[in-house]
Amino acid sequence: MDTISLDVNRLPRHVGIIMDGNGRWAQRHKLKIAMGHRAGTEALREIIRNSSDIGIQVLTLYAFSTENWSRSKAEVDALMMLLLEFFQSEIDELDQKQVRILILGDKDGLPPAQRDALLRAEARTAHNTGLKLNIAVNYGSRAEIVRAARLLAQDVAAGVLAPQDIDEAALESRLYTAGDPPVDLLIRTSGEMRQSNFLLWQCAYAEFVFPTVLWPDFDLAAYHACIAAYQGRSRRFGGRAEA
Ligand code: FPP
Repeated sequence: MDTISLDVNRLPRHVGIIMDGNGRWAQRHKLKIAMGHRAGTEALREIIRNSSDIGIQVLTLYAFSTENWSRSKAEVDALMMLLLEFFQSEIDELDQKQVRILILGDKDGLPPAQRDALLRAEARTAHNTGLKLNIAVNYGSRAEIVRAARLLAQDVAAGVLAPQDIDEAALESRLYTAGDPPVDLLIRTSGEMRQSNFLLWQCAYAEFVFPTVLWPDFDLAAYHACIAAYQGRSRRFGGRAEA
């Protein structure tokens, strides 16, 4: 039972989540690692649904990093399969809830079936007006910033942008998250306290919360506890708190 009361007028606009601990959860339950990721996908469905219901503007989830390719073939295959299953089973409900899906990362580096499913989900929900759901797949934040720099350079080379007009807004508008508010709350489960190349630019002033629960056990009570912790922080953005 979720007994935490949230201040609905001070919700984080943008929540980022590093869903960590699926492997340890599987180990603890003496299950194959793929079952940990499957249980993690169940947790994810609830968090997306609830984010939409309570009125979070943007939710960004780290589903697969560019470094995750180095895991065993069996684990990579399991994650790719779950990704496909997730979009097949959830897309109708997400679309109905007006969720707008955007994939952050290099889709061209994915197997064709996954790439096509992600492209279809983006196209189908492109005009929705509810929760913006960013799913980072084959994503790395440094690569995202390098890509933005390259896009700026292309515009300069094409003569449509002057070097002196390159400012923070110009770079930001070339990130995958262009148009999104900056991350207010970054959550990483499982007790690890690292950012791991996730939304480095976007988290410049984010509040970080590190619950110890493993991702598959991250339920609504745990989620709302993170939001409540965020609401208890004093955010100064480099300035001074009011006396
Ligand atoms: C980290 O746990 C989690 C991942 C690398 C993958 C996260 C993916 C999902 C929750 C499911 C697939 C996503 C979608 C959108 C359907 P870990 O394996 O690093 O855990 P460990 O540190 O305990 O080993």
